[in-house]
Amino acid sequence: MQEYADCFRVRGKKIAFVPTMGFFHEGHLSLMRKARDLADELVISIFVNPLQFAPTEDLSSYPRDTKSDLAFAEQTGVDIVFMPEADSLYPGAFQTRVSLDQLPRHLCGINRPQLFNGVTTVVSKLFNIVKPHVAVFGEKDFQQLLIIRQMVNDLNIDVKIESAPTARDPDGLAMSSRNSYLTADQRENALAVYRSLQNAKDLLEKGVRDSTVIIDEAKKIILSYPGNTVDYIEICDVETLDDVNMIDKPVLMAVAAFVGKVRLIDNMVLVPDKQK
Ligand code: PAJ
Repeated sequence: MQEYADCFRVRGKKIAFVPTMGFFHEGHLSLMRKARDLADELVISIFVNPLQFAPTEDLSSYPRDTKSDLAFAEQTGVDIVFMPEADSLYPGAFQTRVSLDQLPRHLCGINRPQLFNGVTTVVSKLFNIVKPHVAVFGEKDFQQLLIIRQMVNDLNIDVKIESAPTARDPDGLAMSSRNSYLTADQRENALAVYRSLQNAKDLLEKGVRDSTVIIDEAKKIILSYPGNTVDYIEICDVETLDDVNMIDKPVLMAVAAFVGKVRLIDNMVLVPDKQK
């Protein structure tokens, strides 16, 4: 892969990169389409990164369908699909970690402390292997996007980070490879996550600025469906992820909920109307 990247660069070609864990849906494809328009050569990776899963999490059952992924990649104009084996990225002697101090202490990092360490380590490696000029990440994983941007700044990594909006099913459910775990009933219950965000937007439009009130309402909506539990609901600063109590600037509302045993995340940037 590094040799391919060097060849592209020597020929003056611009490389765009979309890292993924596969099992493609429209969200992944929208990133690829955006990336394709930003460069000459589009490289994607499919790698279910063991470093970002805790032993209790779904590494072994994470959905995989390489054949279908490759067909989607081809249709979307991908030039190279990089699919390393875990042993080649993490041979026995591997001991380096890339980790950030502050941003991973919020939201998903609280109950999944290994997650972002694993993400930043693998993304650094992938950047060094693929040597992209630009890489595209989804706003669905807003915290991941902020963390990658911070890492790239902190370490002077010469890759431009672009983002793409969350792709949703027609009823609003954010697309996720993990949606495939949901039963038909759970698929209904999962919609509560999006409803809770929509309701937050409505409340803010009606003039409610108190985060506690908005969060409590969101919790009620999610818990009103059987089998749903809340991991976190936070209203926070769009850059630092610190809690915001009174909404007087654009904020990130981020939700993580369990629908049965399936953990889903979603978020929305809430923008207060200056007049109210
Ligand atoms: P994965 O969950 O496969 O996601 C790959 C990329 O697709 C990420 O940038 C993610 O934010 C984006 N994405 C997922 N669902 C989306 C949706 N509904 N709309 C728009 N974009 C969406 O995120 C990872 O893999 C991994 O952590 C990775 C960065 C590859 C490192 O292992």
